[in-house]
Amino acid sequence: MANVSFDYENLVEVEGGLKDEDLNNIQPRLEEATGELLQSYPGFLRLPDTREYAEASIRVSDEIKNSSATDFIHVGIGGSALGPIALHRALNHSYYNQLPERLGPRIHFAENTDPATLSAILDVADLESTWVNVVTKSGSTAETMANFLVIRGALVEALGDFGYQHRTVFTTDPEEGYLNQIAAREDLKKLPIPPDVGGRFSVLTPVGLLPAAVTGLDVEALLRGASECVRDIRDQGAKHPAIVGAAMHYLMDTARGRNIRVMMAYADALDRLAAWFVQLWAESLGKDGKGSTPHGAVGTTDQHSQLQLYMEGPQDKVIEIVQVEEPQRDLDIPPAYEDLEGVGYLGGHSMAELLNVECDATRRALTEAGRPNSTIRLGAVNEENLGYLFVALEAQTAVAGSLYGVNAFNQPGVEASKQFTYSRMGRPGY
Ligand code: PA5
Repeated sequence: MANVSFDYENLVEVEGGLKDEDLNNIQPRLEEATGELLQSYPGFLRLPDTREYAEASIRVSDEIKNSSATDFIHVGIGGSALGPIALHRALNHSYYNQLPERLGPRIHFAENTDPATLSAILDVADLESTWVNVVTKSGSTAETMANFLVIRGALVEALGDFGYQHRTVFTTDPEEGYLNQIAAREDLKKLPIPPDVGGRFSVLTPVGLLPAAVTGLDVEALLRGASECVRDIRDQGAKHPAIVGAAMHYLMDTARGRNIRVMMAYADALDRLAAWFVQLWAESLGKDGKGSTPHGAVGTTDQHSQLQLYMEGPQDKVIEIVQVEEPQRDLDIPPAYEDLEGVGYLGGHSMAELLNVECDATRRALTEAGRPNSTIRLGAVNEENLGYLFVALEAQTAVAGSLYGVNAFNQPGVEASKQFTYSRMGRPGY
């Protein structure tokens, strides 16, 4: 069973926090929004119990591993990259690519169009045994296609005209977009992104499942946790704590002027989970002059960078702490310098204990300073809990969309800059 819980006590307890009447007043709208979610049942809720995507991803992953691949380049941006990166960062060894004994090839993410990063990937990948996975739902994202064309060029140079074809996967819409045309022309392998699942809701499609399987993560456990969350939301409706959180965060923004939502994860492994969430919340809700601004932070690191602002800056933030009960690993702090009072006290404790104590201390300091904060607790950073959390936050975002009165599933605001880019780069018709 997944072990994920949500604690909003300090959104109510702090001075200026939410009152019972705020929560009572919004309850009918929250119930309506939750009813709409369960009625319309958007694609992301269906994914955890759809076997087809896991099976297809595992099949391709087995093929990649059986080919003695040394490198796997995941090409994609936005929703086609952030979920897989979050999973890799959370669940694989921090130095996965350098481990002598890995459960899969080295993994590289070609996300931005920065030539320095792509050149660096090409510097270290062994092109003779590299696979490339091109992930774009639309099949026309300039950044992704440019990265692909460069990698393809490098592979053609290393292997000849057709060598790259057996080691290329296109993860895209089943029918629409240019990748389908290229795949048909060159007989390339494809994995589907379901048409009714948008990029930032797609981590549990082959977008996230293939790289997870390739690096040896437990895809079944990920989906099991996700499925448990869907079941809980169906059973508990507007009482599910993630759904309650939609109302809490919506009210903190619209009724209390806290229009910045900081996700502060007390685990390095979760920094990219915060980045995934930032995109989910920002791109889904930032419309029609509405939406709160999400921001990612890491504890304890950002206690020495941003906490001063959170404690004494403008009262415009909600700090959402992500706390992990069981650390992935721990280290004892050996006793030393016992005569030095500012150092000696650390000996005999452990690093995970210090991290957790600092997390509790930050929450207490924020609360005592009247700074609203909430906590998401994970029993451990594992596949099952992350699967649960992905769905919980996706559902929360979708319900928040209804409360704000915006469509959480589109992103019209990113079109204008795309058009300018196409025009400057000479794309016909722009
Ligand atoms: O969430 C989204 O829909 C976007 O962030 C997309 O994932 C991003 O723009 C990349 O799109 P595509 O997968 O079509 O290349």
